[in-house]
Amino acid sequence: MSSLTVRQYKNSDFPAVKKIFIEGCHKLAYTAFFHGLKLPHNWVLMLLGFLLPLLSVGSIFLAILDVVIVLVVLWLCGRRFFYGYATECMADDMKDISKYYLQREGYNFWVVESDGELVGTVAAVPSYLPSVEKNTELKRMNVVSSHRGKGISKVLCRTVIEFAHKKGSKAVVLSTTTLQMPATCLYRSMGFKCTNISDMTQFTERLISMQWIFFRYDIPSSK
Ligand SMILES: CC(C)(COP(=O)(O)OP(=O)(O)OC[C@H]1O[C@@H](n2cnc3c(N)ncnc32)[C@H](O)[C@@H]1OP(=O)(O)O)[C@@H](O)C(=O)NCCC(=O)NCCS
Repeated sequence: MSSLTVRQYKNSDFPAVKKIFIEGCHKLAYTAFFHGLKLPHNWVLMLLGFLLPLLSVGSIFLAILDVVIVLVVLWLCGRRFFYGYATECMADDMKDISKYYLQREGYNFWVVESDGELVGTVAAVPSYLPSVEKNTELKRMNVVSSHRGKGISKVLCRTVIEFAHKKGSKAVVLSTTTLQMPATCLYRSMGFKCTNISDMTQFTERLISMQWIFFRYDIPSSK
């Protein structure tokens, strides 16, 4: 049984944290692609794309080309979202983690080590949504693929809940996408309640039926 240590982020962790974050985001592009493949409207698109050139000009080449184009578009939809998200965050909070998370009241960033290897991350930021009540937002939850299914994210969730309680927050809130099924199962299993599901606005996001899902964990006053 390997030993797990959750500790605060330090500057020397940056290369490993960056790798975990970017790889985590990039892998979600594959999740989005395979999710898109299962959707009936995309099957209709592929079927139409295949049949129309075949029946109208009798071209099997154009028919196959159309299907390939739909597949490429589906891949690009997820890629655009998750690669774009990784780039945006690397230019924002993930650019200088110490400055963003460790030097401000109510913010924090933790990493989890397993036998000296950095295998997961989580962060907390103050949030005043959905109203003016003081909440803590959980962010940057990521566990490397090789260490998933060992309960690491539950430990990280508890770390944020404990921190939020100490800071006097009423609740821990977060948002994720409906594509991130292990994450939504994780939050539900930790007692988070879904507060809202909202559609995304871009055509590319709708093509893969991606939605935002919002969760909230009310911190018991007697905790
Ligand atoms: C979501 C994620 C953090 C889970 O990490 P993990 O350490 O493997 O999760 P744990 O082993 O702690 O499992 C905790 C719970 O999550 C759920 N879960 C985890 N993996 C799951 C899977 N593949 N399918 C369904 N539920 C899953 C289960 O409810 C599990 O509880 P249980 O074992 O009692 O049933 C990890 O899969 C990950 O990093 N995913 C990619 C990044 C991401 O989506 N992050 C969330 C951003 S909001």
